[in-house]
Amino acid sequence: MYPEDSSVDGGALRIGGCDAADLAREFGTPAYVVAENDLRARAREFVEAFGRQHPGPGEVVYASKAFPCTAVLRVFAEEGLGCDVASGGELHLALRAGFAPERLYLHGNAKSDAELAMALEHGVGTVVLDNEQEADRLLALGGGPRLLARVTPGVDADTHEHILTGQAGSKFGMPPEVARELAERVDLAGLHMHIGSQIRSLDPYRRAVAALARVGDFDVYDLGGGLGVPYVPGDEAVEPAAWVEGMVAAAHAELGSGKELVLEPGRALVAGAGVTLYRVESVKPGLAGERIVAVDGGMSDNLRPMLYGAAYHVDVAGRLGQPGVTCTVVGKHCESGDVLARDVSLPDPRPGDVLVTPVTGAYGHAMANNYNGVPRPPVIFCADGDARVVVRRETYEDLHGRDL
Ligand code: LLP
Repeated sequence: MYPEDSSVDGGALRIGGCDAADLAREFGTPAYVVAENDLRARAREFVEAFGRQHPGPGEVVYASKAFPCTAVLRVFAEEGLGCDVASGGELHLALRAGFAPERLYLHGNAKSDAELAMALEHGVGTVVLDNEQEADRLLALGGGPRLLARVTPGVDADTHEHILTGQAGSKFGMPPEVARELAERVDLAGLHMHIGSQIRSLDPYRRAVAALARVGDFDVYDLGGGLGVPYVPGDEAVEPAAWVEGMVAAAHAELGSGKELVLEPGRALVAGAGVTLYRVESVKPGLAGERIVAVDGGMSDNLRPMLYGAAYHVDVAGRLGQPGVTCTVVGKHCESGDVLARDVSLPDPRPGDVLVTPVTGAYGHAMANNYNGVPRPPVIFCADGDARVVVRRETYEDLHGRDL
């Protein structure tokens, strides 16, 4: 569950060589802690597997929405990845973090003229067209970027319906026949698909690639991201190298081996590198005798349990591996749905304890919010025993800084 770069000694958890309880004391809670070496290891795993399986042209692209902050993007720029941006704000961040504009892919199902113009102005390499009207608007603004058409392949995958994107009825992309028509009047370099997120088998990808093959013959195929990760012990997931292998094999079989291929993982690059630290504020019995453990964060730093019913593992920072009692870990927000983890085993939790939830690197910071006036947590990078703040904690002044 914990980053590659972590260890447990006498119940004490270290991330990137830094003791979790010490980090909580030094930087406060809640805090997102990221093992920098784990980010780099994941990037290399994807890039090496891709190079092995597909020596031809192509690249691995980081879907920056998964963990959008300068330091994380900088790591992936240094590791040689491209970058997927889904808005003007993500484009701005990617340029700020040092990505070469030609390595950027602009996505989005409702791009504004301003975002399209921004992409042209900065020399963004690839624009992934969601629909015909967008294609016309972009061409009216001028040419430049390589164009891919996002196809809705009509494939269902086994994941939460809110993060399924390639099925009939999806708001993303265009039907195959529309892509075919578009290719007749617009110079399309290729096709794009992204069938959803937190997907734990290769089968739906294979079916989706077969659907792309039926659209026509193109030079470039961007097969999207979506590789799932294990969140709690016992979760099954495809390993990054096996996913890359399966994706490339499907592409070679359906599209031929001479194509330029692009993969766009987000979650699988960042999820496991991050943990969240909380401080316990209270422990009380519920009406049914259950133990309710309330922490100083919740749905403001991790919306995933609420939005997707996501399960997380929880430990007490200094007492890993000790026998526990069944607890419900809840957040501090004024909503009954603000539950971080149900039925988790914690060793006699007490106020003041530091709780750790592993696998929070993806879509935690990304979807953080200020409900109930709770400032968003800092991001702390840990590596080789050193910790540094790469995103500072929000202040109360920040919360009201825009009020006129
Ligand atoms: N490419 C495109 C076009 C995407 O829309 C996405 C994610 C990705 C790549 C990367 O997908 P990943 O490898 O991270 O699954 N907030 C949700 C996830 C939303 C994903 C949106 N698109 C969650 O917390 O589960």
